[in-house]
Amino acid sequence: MNRNPAKLIPADFPTLPGLNAAKATQLSVGDIPVDAQAVGYLVPTSGPVPSEIGLERDDLEVAGFTGKVGEALLLVRGNGPDVVAVGCGDSTAVSGDAVREIAAALVNEAKHCSKIALVAEVDTRLAVEGALLARYRYLPLKSEPDYTALQELVLPGGSAAEAELGRSLALSTIVARDLTNTPPGHLTASDFAEIARHLGYEYGFGVEVFDKDALIEMGCGGLLGVNRGSFEQPRLIKVTWKPEAAGKHLGLVGKGITYDSGGVNLKPAGPGQLLMKMDMGGAASVLGAFCGLRAAKVKNAVTGWLLCTDNMVSGDAYRMGDVLVARDGTTVEIKNTDAEGRIVMMDGIALAVEEGVDAIIDIATLTGAAITALGPQYAATFTQSEALGQLLDEASAKTGDKVWRLPLEEKYRSLLDSDIADISNASMKPVAGAITAALFLKHFAKDAVWGHIDMAGPMNVEKTEGWRPVGATGFGARLLVDVAANL
Ligand code: BES
Ligand code: MN
Ligand code: ZN
Repeated sequence: MNRNPAKLIPADFPTLPGLNAAKATQLSVGDIPVDAQAVGYLVPTSGPVPSEIGLERDDLEVAGFTGKVGEALLLVRGNGPDVVAVGCGDSTAVSGDAVREIAAALVNEAKHCSKIALVAEVDTRLAVEGALLARYRYLPLKSEPDYTALQELVLPGGSAAEAELGRSLALSTIVARDLTNTPPGHLTASDFAEIARHLGYEYGFGVEVFDKDALIEMGCGGLLGVNRGSFEQPRLIKVTWKPEAAGKHLGLVGKGITYDSGGVNLKPAGPGQLLMKMDMGGAASVLGAFCGLRAAKVKNAVTGWLLCTDNMVSGDAYRMGDVLVARDGTTVEIKNTDAEGRIVMMDGIALAVEEGVDAIIDIATLTGAAITALGPQYAATFTQSEALGQLLDEASAKTGDKVWRLPLEEKYRSLLDSDIADISNASMKPVAGAITAALFLKHFAKDAVWGHIDMAGPMNVEKTEGWRPVGATGFGARLLVDVAANL
């Protein structure tokens, strides 16, 4: 019997709706089709306006269009496709994240058009990423969505192979978005594992699922401890990408808290509680990244550990003062049941260390303190390895998933001292919360080359921003594909 009423509505709930939509978009690099509904042309902030626009600069400025990146203006034409003036800044030689931005501005301005062309000499891959990511919406629970699917995107003179690569990378982000936007009642830990199995089959990576009995056998006291108050069973999902003659071996660990109530340290009422369905965003990014490894022809081996459970309250929930034993034997005094992310992550990091990977990166919606420090535009990164730090910065610049490094200050380590156990899970002082969380994880990484991404800030946007529509951003998925490719 399905005891979860959420899943009865609707009966055939489509689990990854955005993924299916983005797979269906036709990507063309030939001439503009006769039935195109909108065609975008680049217009810089100064110099001549392209003749296709059919307006003088003064006219555009009256309409509020100055040519900056991110601006677009739809000009309705009586016959033939509508024309869109797409701002491109100083010059039409656009590169990097600005390409995603201009493609997104076009697709957003022409939001009721299903066949859109962009006439511009820009990187095909980035333009496809921007367009597909901008048109993404999470709609399966809307009875009458106000939405026009993007049936065809035309990039005249572009590269067909690069277009498909752009789609694959966008799909990575979209898998992460779909999972993260899904309501907590529709995405339990076991649902997560089922979806991972399907995706592994479709995108060519291995999936192994460990249930509660297996986790007891393995001594994963962190994941079991957080799960203890839940009706739902936990899942550890191990995903593997093993190319022939692999180069290096990267380990990825993702926080998969499908709902974070705070546990006995219940979160206060407010909008923050609504966002806690997104507390599996780290695990979603890792799974999304795995969906892109084959298309990106990643030559390194990658193994991922997704630690999935919800953090609930019940008569059998873990309490403050309890001591949990981690996979590596470390005893952990629980001082706050709402610092549950690091508790599940400690088992995952310990397993990655045992596997003997060349580098470990963990990704988690870990602390409110990271949001206080950097706001919603940046994830906080931490690492003792200068090389890994640089790799993360480079991947960030290439993917538009912004990161900023914070220090692993050892002087704060004593804030995690425990009188009765090896370490405690939370500092009782309201200072440097993102750093103390990172120091906790570092204990389990031991001497491994390790990096930590706290993506609590950029996990979602409150309103649509270019290629990031309102809701889950899928932060980290493309970033991790890039790191995996370049380790
Ligand atoms: N999942 C939260 C962190 C979070 C907060 C993510 C807001 C996204 C948006 C995490 O489990 C948590 O509750 N952290 C606590 C730690 C504290 C109890 C030491 C926090 O940040 O308040
Ligand atoms: Mn919490
Ligand atoms: Zn959490």
